[in-house]
Amino acid sequence: MSEIEAIKERHSVRNYKPEKLHPQKVDLIKEKIDELNTEGNLHLQLIEDAGNTYNKLLNRMAGLGTAPSVIACVGPDDETLEQRIGYYGEKLVLFAQELGLNTCWAGTFNKKNINAEVGAGSRLVISIAIGYGQDKGKPHKSKTMEQVVEAKGERPLWFNKGVEMALLAPTAINQQKFKIRLNEDETVDFIDKGGMFSQVDLGIVRCHFEIGAERSTGEIKKG
Ligand SMILES: Cc1cc2nc3c(=O)[nH]c(=O)nc-3n(C[C@H](O)[C@H](O)[C@H](O)COP(=O)(O)O)c2cc1C
Repeated sequence: MSEIEAIKERHSVRNYKPEKLHPQKVDLIKEKIDELNTEGNLHLQLIEDAGNTYNKLLNRMAGLGTAPSVIACVGPDDETLEQRIGYYGEKLVLFAQELGLNTCWAGTFNKKNINAEVGAGSRLVISIAIGYGQDKGKPHKSKTMEQVVEAKGERPLWFNKGVEMALLAPTAINQQKFKIRLNEDETVDFIDKGGMFSQVDLGIVRCHFEIGAERSTGEIKKG
């Protein structure tokens, strides 16, 4: 499965089968995490037994309490941390999708129960539930391209393909509070329009955009 196919097939899944992750998949995920942690200066961690991470009322109402495992999204704290978590965390989400697993980013979870290592100077930003879904989730309602694009004149095909993939990105409460600006020199800016976890959202959106556009958009800086 290509990353584009993974983007198209991925939807948040909140109800999971009781099975644990297959040991081979655990190895592959851990390998991928090592690679992403090095690239993104992060400390993402796969916690095979989610335990009571999702025992909050909101989680239980959504179904997330059934998730067998969880990824703790931790990293050295600086002003780019949340975007880096979004960007590299989504790469992991898409990798999991390619392995036939399902996921759900979850800002609401029990920080005391997650069993993550959080070193001095680091911060636990968010969690990602992971496991074998009872269902595949469903496409979210989306803004249109025109609602999120800022560009003058004709837009190149690569830019439109990037935006198309960005609109399939998960965002907190499906807020899609971002703009993607095409500058005259063909660089791209990602603009944060606020909202909860909007910096994590922006990192996720950038990850999807780059896959669609098939080009890097430069270093992550606070949007
Ligand atoms: C940063 C972030 C935080 C989220 N937090 C939660 C959460 O706490 N609980 C939950 O059920 N879903 C959560 N979600 C999932 C979103 O509701 C979901 O991505 C959005 O509705 C779009 O649906 P989709 O992921 O199926 O495309 C979160 C998503 C993101 C990106």
